[in-house]
Amino acid sequence: MKRKSIFDLYEMKKNGEKISWLTSYDFPTAQFAQKAGIEMLLVGDSLGMCVYGYNGTLPVTMDQCIVHTEAVRRGAPACFIVGDMPLGSYQSSDSQAVDNAIRFLKEADVDAIKLEGGVRITSRIQAITDAGINVIGHIGLTPQSSGQLGGHKAQGRTAETAKLVVEDALAVQAAGAKILLVEGVPPEVTKYIWKTLTIPVMSIGAGPHCDGQLLIVSDLIGQFQAFTPKFVKKYCNIAKIITEAMEEYVSELKSGQFPDEDKYCYHMIEGEEIKFKKLMQ
Ligand code: KIV
Repeated sequence: MKRKSIFDLYEMKKNGEKISWLTSYDFPTAQFAQKAGIEMLLVGDSLGMCVYGYNGTLPVTMDQCIVHTEAVRRGAPACFIVGDMPLGSYQSSDSQAVDNAIRFLKEADVDAIKLEGGVRITSRIQAITDAGINVIGHIGLTPQSSGQLGGHKAQGRTAETAKLVVEDALAVQAAGAKILLVEGVPPEVTKYIWKTLTIPVMSIGAGPHCDGQLLIVSDLIGQFQAFTPKFVKKYCNIAKIITEAMEEYVSELKSGQFPDEDKYCYHMIEGEEIKFKKLMQ
């Protein structure tokens, strides 16, 4: 299967075909996603919550992101894979941002990196783009700056703040980003951005008017238990399926049903048991 490139995604936008984007943090899930026809995978710093059980994304490190992104690349060689720059990997300087973006390419073979912020990080976007790396901008609700935003709150719900979100979108495109992700913004504002920008605009919790959607895989499959954002649609309840399977295992073990000696055991080769008994005398 041919690996998706940025040009394939631009072609989809041109043809009005919606782009599907999902997070993934491990090899098997990446395999399932590629088989399901997902075009883009994000190895998001949401792995802090979905995989490591942290309260948020802030403790996540570059090393953790790299390890998980490598596994995802192995599982989905044909998907367009996006490495997510964690807090502390690009805030200090343009050169720090470029160095860490290059790590994602060299060590995890990504197709693009994503970083949070609009007007205030345009020099980072420009520097990484100048290094020949595809950048995806991420504006609106940006979890890494949730302290400044007063929590994980929808952005741009008033006319003044909506204007700020649009200014961020324009700045990200002007700095050279190849795709824009809008998170937690009213659909009216996303629609305006989508109609105004020329690059593909993706949404997570920002309504349907855009070129495609991103969902957290752990939400989509019903694995993440702590909370479910309003915009999430759970397509299955994997937590229930896994828990029921484990309960059945515990119950069969306690009752002696598992392991069944005839079905789930490797018996000795014919004749070897007699020799074995003699050996042990
Ligand atoms: O880390 C992540 O999964 C993200 C999405 C919430 C946009 O950045």
